[in-house]
Amino acid sequence: MSNSDLLASVSRLASDGWIPKDELIRLLACEEKDVRETLRSRAEAVRRKYYGTDVYIRGLIEISNYCRNNCLYCGIRRGNTKAGRYRLGKEEILACCDRGYELGFRTFVMQGGEDVCYTDDFLEDLIREQKRRYPDCAVTLSLGERSRESYERLYRAGADRYLLRQEAVNPGLYGSLHPKEMSLANRLRCLADLKEIGYQVGCGFMVGAPGQTLDHIAEDLEYMRELKPQMIGIGPFLPHKDTPLGKEPAGSLALTLVLLSIIRLMLPAVLLPATTALGTITQRGREMGILAGANVVMPNLSPQEAKDQYILYDNKLRSGAEAAEGLAVLKRSMEAIGYQVVVSRGDCADYANGEERS
Ligand code: 5AD
Repeated sequence: MSNSDLLASVSRLASDGWIPKDELIRLLACEEKDVRETLRSRAEAVRRKYYGTDVYIRGLIEISNYCRNNCLYCGIRRGNTKAGRYRLGKEEILACCDRGYELGFRTFVMQGGEDVCYTDDFLEDLIREQKRRYPDCAVTLSLGERSRESYERLYRAGADRYLLRQEAVNPGLYGSLHPKEMSLANRLRCLADLKEIGYQVGCGFMVGAPGQTLDHIAEDLEYMRELKPQMIGIGPFLPHKDTPLGKEPAGSLALTLVLLSIIRLMLPAVLLPATTALGTITQRGREMGILAGANVVMPNLSPQEAKDQYILYDNKLRSGAEAAEGLAVLKRSMEAIGYQVVVSRGDCADYANGEERS
């Protein structure tokens, strides 16, 4: 395919929100500077149309690194006996929120491993208290696979959003990244349930996960186009030395940026974070992500002991602009590229606000 054909693909993607799979794969494979720059600038323009130059912040609270799962890529997998484990209690979590609120956060993301100690009763009580203290804030959960009944209870308690990456919709790839007892069908069931219940849903995958091909990526894009999530989290795969995939190469920064732009053109109003993994793989990764079409960053509000132990991959960012203390640094870095961090819940632009909650 010539450059002009690829530029035509970019234009079609921008106008129709979709191009055939073979074109998509050629676009993903293209390393031509001018094609990549055209893609990036079209995505940035669409992002500005929906969100201006606003950057939404989410206060990320890593509530526990106990996990019953054993995903082959993840540093907090059950089988990693070298990981020191911790779990935050209700008051510790609320203390993080209090500090975050003062700093200007209006979304709290409770993320953790699949820790069986967080029962529905515990979480309902926590969510109700968060909603009582901060009625103007969105509560986001990122706690893995649970039953439909559990998702319903937490939604009724007031949770607004749920993040759960599908990781891979191709059964072969999903199977090679996860232990036998986990199933792609259940992962997709969770996402469908969450959507049906009324959560604003976030899904996503790692770029450059071991064994992933461009074809696999195109399948994930196709799935996400159909699901129409409110948020999509993607970041490069980064090896963790104490996991079975610890010797595999990291995912590509350039391909991650290309994907952020493609996703912005495919789902123009989607919330798209410049993830921690992107900020870890290179120093200015998050700025590059924003310039490629991302509009969200998720600074870490966890206590230091949690930050030190919630290690999904090697060299994970855990201080500086990543810490709440470094919010000023983050603000300045966004201003330096022409964007500004705003105090807002940062809802998805096309989410129907009038939609009834049950
Ligand atoms: N590299 C990059 N991302 C990872 N995640 C887990 N392990 C890694 C890794 N080694 C991502 C997964 C998960 C999210 C919370 O973090 O996609 O869904």
